[in-house]
Amino acid sequence: MQKKILAIALTVLLSGGVSQVHAEMTHIDRVNAGKQKSANCVSCHGEHGNSSTAMFPKLAQQNAGYLVNQLKAFKNGSRKDPIMSTLAIGLTENDMVDIANYYAEQKIAGEPADPNESAQERAEHETLVAQGGDLYRNGDLKREVSACIACHGPHGEGNQPAGFPALRWQHKAYLIKALTDFKSGKRSNTNENMMHMIAVKMTEDEIKAVANRIATMK
Ligand code: HEC
Ligand code: HEC
Repeated sequence: MQKKILAIALTVLLSGGVSQVHAEMTHIDRVNAGKQKSANCVSCHGEHGNSSTAMFPKLAQQNAGYLVNQLKAFKNGSRKDPIMSTLAIGLTENDMVDIANYYAEQKIAGEPADPNESAQERAEHETLVAQGGDLYRNGDLKREVSACIACHGPHGEGNQPAGFPALRWQHKAYLIKALTDFKSGKRSNTNENMMHMIAVKMTEDEIKAVANRIATMK
């Protein structure tokens, strides 16, 4: 009997010890593990999470909590994408945390200016950036479009504790797709449905303008 109690006590002690070792995995350990585990992501999301293809979002410098939430959403089916839904099934929660910590530590890269842009295209772009900047900062009170700045920050840096994503320097085409998906309800993986409520009130022109502004934020 005594032996049995001793054995149980020892097991508890040992398992307690193991979980402690696990908890002590430092941030750097996670970043390094995340780098290894993200080897399969490079082909689309680029070296260090800076993708060069506009439909593949940049992951560099994104808030870790947001990244984990999205990977969980792809895995549980509440956010759907033919590629990501399949890939996320193979990730454990621990993998997701490691990968998210790795990407959060990378620096996001901006787009070089297009050397072939005509003076007229440049002027049109500047108009869109100005219109989008106004909506980003002030929203539209009359039509109840919330100001993006309140949640995504003055520089598009997001809000880490709240899990609101950083938007700055994200690809314009991806931003337009994300906002269009929120508007149509195709993407709505949070209970509060915050972005659907906002995007449903935005016009296509506003989506285009605000995406032009955000893509130039740093
Ligand atoms: C074959 C291309 C491809 C590969 C490989 C890939 N992704 Fe993706 N990923 C995408 C696409 C496309 C989207 C955008 C989905 C959408 O439009 O909703 C995306 C979106 C994401 C998002 C959401 C980003 C955001 O801003 O909301 C995360 C997080 C993500 N991928 C992580 C990963 C990780 C981690 C891996 C490696 C295990 C990976 N991806 C591999 C194509 C890919
Ligand atoms: C009340 C807070 C709040 C406001 C205001 C807000 N957002 Fe968001 N936004 C969020 C949250 C939360 C998410 C993540 C949603 C999810 O997990 O699906 C998000 C996600 C996004 C995404 C997707 C990012 C990605 O990487 O896929 C875009 C783009 C976006 N918001 C743009 C905007 C724009 C433009 C505005 C202003 C017109 C705005 N948001 C206003 C909270 C907000």
